[in-house]
Amino acid sequence: MREIRIPVTRVEGHGLITVHLDGGGRVREARFHVTEARGFERFCQGRTVWEMPGITARICGICPVSHLLASAKAGDAILAVRPPRPADKLRRLMNLGQYIQSHALSFFHLSSPDLLLGWDADPAKRNVLGLAAERPQLALDGIRLRAFGQEIIAALGERRVHPAWAVPGGVRSPLSPEARDRLAAKLPEARRIATDALELYEKSVPAWAEEVETFGNFPSLFMSLVTPEGLWEHHDGRLRFVDSDRRIVADGLDPSRYFEFIGEAVEGWSYLKFPYWRPLGYPEGMYRVGPLARLNCCDRIGTPLADEALRRFRESAGGKAVTSSFHYHWARLIEIVAAIERAALYLEDPEVLSSRVRAEAGVNELSGVGVHEAPRGTLLHHYEVDETGVIVRANLIVSTGHNNLAMNRTVAQIAERYLQGKKKIPEGLLNRLEGGIRAYDPCLSCSVHAAGRMPLRVVLLGPEGEVLDEVVRDP
Ligand code: NI
Ligand code: MG
Repeated sequence: MREIRIPVTRVEGHGLITVHLDGGGRVREARFHVTEARGFERFCQGRTVWEMPGITARICGICPVSHLLASAKAGDAILAVRPPRPADKLRRLMNLGQYIQSHALSFFHLSSPDLLLGWDADPAKRNVLGLAAERPQLALDGIRLRAFGQEIIAALGERRVHPAWAVPGGVRSPLSPEARDRLAAKLPEARRIATDALELYEKSVPAWAEEVETFGNFPSLFMSLVTPEGLWEHHDGRLRFVDSDRRIVADGLDPSRYFEFIGEAVEGWSYLKFPYWRPLGYPEGMYRVGPLARLNCCDRIGTPLADEALRRFRESAGGKAVTSSFHYHWARLIEIVAAIERAALYLEDPEVLSSRVRAEAGVNELSGVGVHEAPRGTLLHHYEVDETGVIVRANLIVSTGHNNLAMNRTVAQIAERYLQGKKKIPEGLLNRLEGGIRAYDPCLSCSVHAAGRMPLRVVLLGPEGEVLDEVVRDP
C-alpha cells in the first residue's frame, strides 16, 4: 500500500494528512489526523460551574467566545434558570460579533488569496500580502470588517482575548449607551463591505466550477439549531437534520439529549472523535455542521438582505441542499450579512442597556448541556456536577469534531482527483488539499487556522514503504 504523508504543523495541535493508495494507485482512504490530545475534558474536572465560562474560554485562543457562551448555557441548565431577556440578547449580540470577526478572518485573510489569485499562483504572492498588492480595497475591507466584529465582542466582554463576561444565569454587564452608539455608527460600512464581498463571490462562482465539484462535494446529512419556527438560529432552539435533498430527517431534537442521537466514534489514528448520526450508524451517519449546514437546515434566515442572498444560494442547487463544502465560503459571507442585520436590531433595542442581566441561583440540577452555534458549527458543553457545583465529568463536542468525517472524505476526493494514479506529487495537490480543509475553517486547537499558509510535506510511498516522491513546502 502506498502512503502519502502530509504534516500540517502550525501552532498548537498538529494535523497530519495521510493518503492511502491501493495497489492500483487509487486512493483507498485519506486521513486527516489530529495528533495532539488537549485533555480539556479532564482539565475541567474539579472546577466549579461558575468558573467554567472563564476557564473554557481559555480552551482556544481562536474561539474563546464560543466556549464562553456554550459554557454559560450549560451553567444556566445546572442552575435551572432562564437568563433575563436582556442577557439573552446581549449574549446573542456577542455571538454575532464573533460571526463577523471569525468569518471575516476566514474569508478575507485565509481563503481569498487562494480563491482570487488562483491555486497555481506563485506561492510567494498567494497570501494576504499578495492580495493587498493586487486588491488593496478588498484587503482593507477585510481588516475593517474583522475589527468591527472584534469591537462588538470587546464592547461587551471588555477583555478581547478571554472575555469571562457570560456567566451561568446571564452576563456580568450590559452594553453602555456610548458603546451602543459607536457600534451603530459603524453598521453602514460593515453592511457595505459584506454585501460587496458577497457580490464578488457570487460573480466568481462560475470560475470555481472545478473546486465546487471536487472540494468535498458529496451527499451527507447537515445539522444545526433552528428556531421553533424553523428559522436560522445561532444561540438556542432545537436541532434539525436535513439530507442532501433538504428533506427534514429529524426536527425539534432536544440538544440536551444529544447522546441519544449522536454517537462519538474513536479511531486509533486521531485524537479527534468522529461524531455520527446514530440511526445511520458509523460512518454512514456522516453529517456536516457550520455555515453550510445552518443555511441548508433553516427554512429562512429572517432578515431581508440575508434572505435574498439565501434565495440565490438555494437556487444554485435547484432548491436542494448545497452539497459542496467549497461553498462554506459562500455560506460564511451570507452569515456575515445576516449577523450585521441582526446586530442592527439589537443595537436599536433599548433592552441591551438594561442592568437586569443576571439570574442568581444555586445548584438545582446535577447535569446540564449548553448548546450553541459557534461560527464553525454546533458546540456542545455537557457537565455533570456534585451538590456544590463542582464538575465531576465534562463532555465537549466541538464544531470541528462534527465535521471530522466530512473533512476526511474531502481530502480523499481531492487526492483522487489530482493524483490520478501518478507516482509524482503535483504542487497543485498540496494547495488544493490545504484549500479543501480550509473550506471548513477548522479549529483543530486552531492549528490550521492561525496562519495564512500551512507548511506541508508530502511523501509518496510505494507498496514496500519505499519513497517514490517527496515534496516539502515551508510556509
Ligand atoms: Ni477553537
Ligand atoms: Mg468529548
